[in-house]
Amino acid sequence: MVELLPEGEKVVLIAGNWKMFKTVSETAEFCRAFEPPAGVEVVLAPPFTSLAAALGHELDVLAQNVHWDDEGPFTGEVSARMLRELGVAGAIVGHSERRRLFGETDHTVGRRAAHALASGLRVIACVGELEAERERGETDEVLRRQLSVLEPHDGLVVAYEPVWAIGTGKTATPQMAQDAHAFIKSLLDVPVLYGGSVKPDNATELLSQQDVDGALVGGASLAVDQFSAICETAAQLPS
Ligand code: 13P
Repeated sequence: MVELLPEGEKVVLIAGNWKMFKTVSETAEFCRAFEPPAGVEVVLAPPFTSLAAALGHELDVLAQNVHWDDEGPFTGEVSARMLRELGVAGAIVGHSERRRLFGETDHTVGRRAAHALASGLRVIACVGELEAERERGETDEVLRRQLSVLEPHDGLVVAYEPVWAIGTGKTATPQMAQDAHAFIKSLLDVPVLYGGSVKPDNATELLSQQDVDGALVGGASLAVDQFSAICETAAQLPS
């Protein structure tokens, strides 16, 4: 279970979301080469098939999704109980790729998060607006709706991932990230990670924002040197 740091200390969490990348052998190779620096918490979320290969190193391993029942006729799903037995520490829920490509809704995200947390898993719940929603000035409204299904919990972290910044090389400006994070925290008092084209060369300015408590990294988490550089940046931030 996650323990939040004492009041006033900045929690810096760097999470690597590998999406549908890396086989078992590629995962083992990454984990042999990667050493998380001291002073930052690092977690990795490989595909289900590579979870076991990532266990046993100096970091928590998260799944990329989790169902809201312990077992049942739900083809293609995996439960919190199954993940716990394997030694997995938590799960990402509500990633925009799941919402956009696989029909995930706010309602199902809420159910997944609640059951995972009640089962003792940590949860990174993803929220974020589409480009058209930002352009129409609807960012706050979208975030409010997506957050309405989540309850505060010691094991819950929110990831703000503006959809237009994911895998595009476009990053929210540090001020945009700060504004969205402050808004999220005004609704739900949990740590908030930024996600969307986080790279070694923009990590410092994003992570330095007051309400940015870490990063959810996609593409740059797949290469040991880039992910290490982001983790080092986070480790060197003044607390
Ligand atoms: P990129 O870092 O590749 O933009 O992906 C972000 C993301 O979706 C992490 O969950």
